[in-house]
Amino acid sequence: MAFRPLAIVTGASTGIGFELAKCCAADGYDLIIAADEAEIESAAETLRATGVWVQPVQADLGTPDGVDKLIAEIGDRPVDALLANAGRGLGHAFLDQDFDEIAAVIGVNVTGTVALVQQVGRGMRDRNKGRILITGSIAGYLPGSFQAVYNGTKAFLDSFSYALGNELKDTEITVTCLMPGATETEFFDRAHMEDTPVGKDDNKADAAKVAKDGYEAMKSGKPGIVSGLANKLTVAAAGVLPETVLAERHRKMAEPGR
Ligand SMILES: NC(=O)c1ccc[n+]([C@@H]2O[C@H](COP(=O)([O-])OP(=O)(O)OC[C@H]3O[C@@H](n4cnc5c(N)ncnc54)[C@H](OP(=O)(O)O)[C@@H]3O)[C@@H](O)[C@H]2O)c1
Repeated sequence: MAFRPLAIVTGASTGIGFELAKCCAADGYDLIIAADEAEIESAAETLRATGVWVQPVQADLGTPDGVDKLIAEIGDRPVDALLANAGRGLGHAFLDQDFDEIAAVIGVNVTGTVALVQQVGRGMRDRNKGRILITGSIAGYLPGSFQAVYNGTKAFLDSFSYALGNELKDTEITVTCLMPGATETEFFDRAHMEDTPVGKDDNKADAAKVAKDGYEAMKSGKPGIVSGLANKLTVAAAGVLPETVLAERHRKMAEPGR
């Protein structure tokens, strides 16, 4: 029996990742989807209703054991597309943050993503074929007052993604960095940012639109995509404005109780 191509989507239980998984399903991929909570099972049920093969994996991708669990589920099957999207935010003043939460953010956004991309990427290199999408953020261009660690992790991912893409430029493997701006998902509630201007903003981007932008960029092998015109302008401004000004602007979006 001929298998359909396989896509791995992390953080696929909700938000942008769930929408990315829907794009993969509509495009004919079999799916292995992963997230930390049991909700990944209901996401798999919803996706299966569209007629695709879906294997859910419940694993904390901020830990080596969680990454190993996902790698074990993939087994020997070639991965055609890896959409490394799982991530979480963390608001409030850095000195007031709980260090376990800080470590969890760095664990899933940075360490877990890097570990997964390396292990799956080596298999792609052996076959000289594959698409990688990494969900970074325009936050990576902005010193993130009142979300300082999170923005640092996204600066890492944005940079890492372009660097890896360059290392692989003479191969048939492409790396795409999806850089959304504020998007309507569970992200802000989970990051304890309900009581911030950006958390309360009713005009956030639509997760399905953001995912479609990222998915199409991945399929065409683009190195990066900033989703949305206003976000493109923000990134352009970040290239010329001093970091102190950018940090002050971020405070206005992310300071609790403002
Ligand atoms: N929303 C925005 O404004 C925005 C802007 C720029 C970039 N992003 C990025 O977009 C990505 C998706 O976020 P979202 O906005 O769609 O938020 P979301 O709805 O909260 O989705 C986050 C996803 O990541 C999973 N996840 C979080 N920690 C995990 C862990 N330790 N192990 C495995 N899975 C984990 C979540 O699953 P569980 O619930 O099971 O943990 C969920 O499926 C993130 O990388 C985020 O940084 C978001």
